[in-house]
Amino acid sequence: MKKYKIVLLSGDGIGPEISDVSKKVLKELSKNHNFDIEIIEKLFGGIAYEKYGTPSPDETIDQCKKSDAVLLACVGDIKYDSLARELRPESGLLKLRSALNLFANIRPVKVRKSLLDASTLKKEIVEHVDLIVVRELIGGIYFGKPRGHITNTKIPKAFNTMVYDSAEIERITEIAIKIANQRNKKICSVDKSNVLEVSQLWRDTVLNITSKDKNISLSNIYVDNAAMQLVRDPGQFDVILTSNLFGDILSDLAAMLTGSIGMLPSASLNNNGPGVFEPVHGSAPDIAGKNIANPIAMLLSASMMLKIGLNEEEAAENLETAIDKVLSKGFRTADIADGSSEVLSCSEIGDKIMDEI
Ligand code: IPM
Ligand code: MN
Repeated sequence: MKKYKIVLLSGDGIGPEISDVSKKVLKELSKNHNFDIEIIEKLFGGIAYEKYGTPSPDETIDQCKKSDAVLLACVGDIKYDSLARELRPESGLLKLRSALNLFANIRPVKVRKSLLDASTLKKEIVEHVDLIVVRELIGGIYFGKPRGHITNTKIPKAFNTMVYDSAEIERITEIAIKIANQRNKKICSVDKSNVLEVSQLWRDTVLNITSKDKNISLSNIYVDNAAMQLVRDPGQFDVILTSNLFGDILSDLAAMLTGSIGMLPSASLNNNGPGVFEPVHGSAPDIAGKNIANPIAMLLSASMMLKIGLNEEEAAENLETAIDKVLSKGFRTADIADGSSEVLSCSEIGDKIMDEI
């Protein structure tokens, strides 16, 4: 029997609630699909800070490195906003991404038929949405140096550096090409090359690399236009390739096409070694502990983990079908409820999904 060792990081806010659902579902899938899954739980984020004084303890990172895959719920809480930057839960996340060299962040945005009415946009605009955001994850302005505060000026000043070298752009472009080749072979690269040098290098490098693959059709647009096109006609996109900051912003925007950010999974990958699979949403401290969160983004992340991280494609498909069945029967969590649906709690919708597995 195949045996996998995964690390589960429940993190903060709604994290433990949606993790509970994910654990049960993974165990059930392992029984049905004949594999063994060891789930090692580690502290990460604000909760790790409370216990160890750091959001990303070495022990947690080491355990992640030794695993087959990492499933992460979410981190963060406003109560940590006043901490020094390196102690904040978000910095822990950046450290994990960087320590595992997860340069490629894959965010599929697919509108599920049963949720067409949940979007704030018109049905006709969102019904054909099926795109993937490929976001560079360990470079750009998130990590660029120098960065910091300048204190010896009359008024407070702070700065960051948006920087890429061509090798970083090349490797993320290769990933986008690989993904596009499994889909409609269209890549739209998003930059701000009308203003930024770093974006000019981005555009030139992407063009250079993609031109070697004759199957790929490449378009380039500026990030402001990309934001507009994503709400005007999102169906035009297949693979969106972009840098760390632009990808962060555009993927939240794209998430809303599906009706709720509570529906969007992601995978952060390296060319080898374990990936981190996590929902795009945050820790929603305002609804934490109420058992009303939507566990589906985390379950879809678990499905990406099964498929990409563990090669358990059938189990992944089983899970996705189960989710679709539950949604098409009209069961919803509060964030995606419409007048005609039955609103369930986080654990209740988890149980419904278990029943369909
Ligand atoms: C995301 C999040 C993170 C990011 C934060 C929590 C650091 O918004 O995964 O999109 O900005 O990358
Ligand atoms: Mn984000």
